[in-house]
Amino acid sequence: MSSRIAVLHGVNLDQLGRRDASHYGTLTLDQLERTITGFADELGLRVQFFQSNFEGAFVEQLHRAGEMADGLVLNPGAWTHYSWAIRDALEIARLPSVEVHLSDVHQREEWRRVSVIRDLCIETVAGRGPDGYRDALARLQKELNG
Ligand code: DQA
Repeated sequence: MSSRIAVLHGVNLDQLGRRDASHYGTLTLDQLERTITGFADELGLRVQFFQSNFEGAFVEQLHRAGEMADGLVLNPGAWTHYSWAIRDALEIARLPSVEVHLSDVHQREEWRRVSVIRDLCIETVAGRGPDGYRDALARLQKELNG
């Protein structure tokens, strides 16, 4: 049975395609999700997607995640840098998780270098654009299936 991976996109990720292309590229969220589905197919993983601009909705999705998925890929957007509520919910989910950022958050403003979820994740991938999601899925595949 192939592992189930929930890919969670946070605040403003629905606006991909309209955001600064030098950081986020030109793909829309739909196109990004199709790309991620292709990566998952190659790796034999099943993916499901969720996006919200509402922190409480994102938190509640994390509460449900354990029933729906074996692992998580999450890009919480700006929440990454300050949402202790999302950190607490991720801790409750108790799933192997990989943090992904399209842009290289380490080379941007100081405040983007902080991640309140990093130490709960088995890996952080940043600055690799859409390919970062392939890296994240491959890392989870290794974690779940050896
Ligand atoms: C982001 C980086 C965050 O700093 C930013 O707030 C985002 C997207 C990324 O994918 O590079 O919304 O998570």
